[in-house]
This record gives sequence, structure tokens and C-alpha cells, in this order.
Amino acid sequence: MASLAAGPLQHEVALVTGATSGIGEAIARRFAAEGARVAVVGRDARRGNAVVAGIAAAGGCAAFFAADVTHDAAVRDLIADVLARFGDLSILVNNAGRSVPGTVVNTTAAEWEEVWRVNVSSAFLTSHHAVPRLLERGGGCVVHIASEAGLKGLKDRAAYCAAKAAIVGLTKAMAVDHSPHGVRVNCICPGTVETPMVAELIETHANPAAMKDAFLERRLTPYLGTPEDIAEAALYMVLPRNRYLTGAVLSVDGGSLAR
Ligand SMILES: NC(=O)c1ccc[n+]([C@@H]2O[C@H](COP(=O)([O-])OP(=O)(O)OC[C@H]3O[C@@H](n4cnc5c(N)ncnc54)[C@H](OP(=O)(O)O)[C@@H]3O)[C@@H](O)[C@H]2O)c1
Repeated sequence: MASLAAGPLQHEVALVTGATSGIGEAIARRFAAEGARVAVVGRDARRGNAVVAGIAAAGGCAAFFAADVTHDAAVRDLIADVLARFGDLSILVNNAGRSVPGTVVNTTAAEWEEVWRVNVSSAFLTSHHAVPRLLERGGGCVVHIASEAGLKGLKDRAAYCAAKAAIVGLTKAMAVDHSPHGVRVNCICPGTVETPMVAELIETHANPAAMKDAFLERRLTPYLGTPEDIAEAALYMVLPRNRYLTGAVLSVDGGSLAR
């Protein structure tokens, strides 16, 4: 087997939140395949350890860290644990997220707060605790996973659209603050990707077939995205040779935003 340690990310330690499933799992696998040592973060140890085992079986290096990234103390401890384990941290991917359907009329205050905690506060907290380390070591990368929902209005998704728009704003603010000091900050806005989150949205909808058609109708492509499509874009953002890329908001959405 060819050594993954010779890949373009061979000197990087990447922390990926929400890496126990879907897009985050694909990013963790891809970064490990390119030589990074990867901290797989989530709450579900069974799925997290399965991702780590898959990476190890492919010749990569990863470890699972159980953490609820909406809690300040848990995130502080997480960053310390990753540094203790790998001795460095150079890439942060803020991918953990959750979508709850609803207009402002039928979204409850508790649902609103939950969507903001999981999508926005988590990205703030991991950045708050990790960026000092990236600055201290002289540079690094942050990738935020927002959504097409952060760039356009989606029907019946008020809290999610607002939260993902906040991530786009956070990306730009962090890029302005930290790019001069070597920390590149970029954002991906995926269109619909077939993951457990989307499966849940379809299954819990009153008319699942209509929901799936609505996801497809927004695209210019006759297919939805895969987690690997998003991992490819994330890899592009963190490759050391792409040093001029910061503050970017990249749509990977089958052309949804072009409509
Ligand atoms: N799928 C799409 O169509 C799509 C489109 C645009 C944007 N996105 C965004 O892409 C990201 C990933 O979505 P996905 O579809 O891959 O979702 P998914 O399969 O449901 O995975 C969500 C991940 O987030 C983690 N997570 C949720 N709450 C957490 C918490 N409090 N603390 C730690 N981890 C937490 C989950 O891990 P545990 O269960 O182990 O905690 C899981 O690994 C999200 O930000 C989503 O908004 C997805």
C-alpha cells in the first residue's frame, strides 16, 4: 500500500466536527487519505469509532473525540485533548449542523435556539478555542460548512436559512481578522447532499416524494450531491498550495444559486 504519510496534507492535523456521519465523515476520510492526522469529532462513539477504523483500514491516521460542540467547556477540553494527542492543530472544519423545518410562525423558540446552537454557536466555540493555536503556530485553515440556505431563501426553513447566513458572515469576519496572520478562512455552501440529515427531512415530511422532487428541482444538475463532492471542495480549500484563497464562499450545489 502506498504511504498516505506522503500526501499533500502530510504535515497537517485536522479537526472535523460532525465527522461521525455524512459530509463530515467524507471530509475526515478524504483529509486522512491525503496524509493528514484527523480528529473525528461527534457525540456518537459507535459511529465515530467506525469512521476511525475505516480510516485506519485505508492506511490513514485518525482518532475519535466525543464532544458536544455546543458547550463551551466541552469544546475547550476537546481542543486541549486534540493537541495532547497529536501535538498540533492546523485545520479546523466546522461541519456539525442540523436543519429543522418551519416558518417563523411554526418554529418554536426552543427549535430556533437549537438550530442556532448547533450551526452557529458551535462554529464560534471551536473557532474561539482553536484559532489562538493556529495563530500561535504561524498559520492554518478554517473551513465552515454553511449551505445554499445561507445564500437564498428556502421554503419552510427560516431558522436554518438565518443560521447558515450567519456562518457566511462569520467566515468573512474571521477572514478579515486572521488572514493577515496566516489563518485562511473559507466557507462551502453545499446544495442538497444525500446524507442522513436529508434522509430525515424527506422521511418526516408530509409528502416525502414531493420533498425529494423539490430538492432536485432547485438544481441545474439532474442529480443531488454526494458527501464526496463536498469533501473535494474542502480539500481544495486547505491545500497549502492554495495560499491565496481566503474569505471565499463557494457554492457546491449543482447550480442551485444560479437560478
Ligand atoms: N446534507 C445536505 O444536503 C446539506 C446541504 C447543505 C449544508 N449541509 C450542512 O452540512 C453539514 C453536515 O450535514 P450532513 O447532512 O452531513 O448531516 P448529518 O449526516 O446529519 O451529520 C451531522 C453531524 O453533526 C454532528 N452533530 C450534530 N450535533 C452535534 C453536536 N451538538 N455536537 C457534536 N456534533 C454534532 C453529528 O454527530 P453526532 O450525532 O455523533 O453528534 C453528525 O456527525 C451540516 O452543517 C449541514 O447543515 C448539509
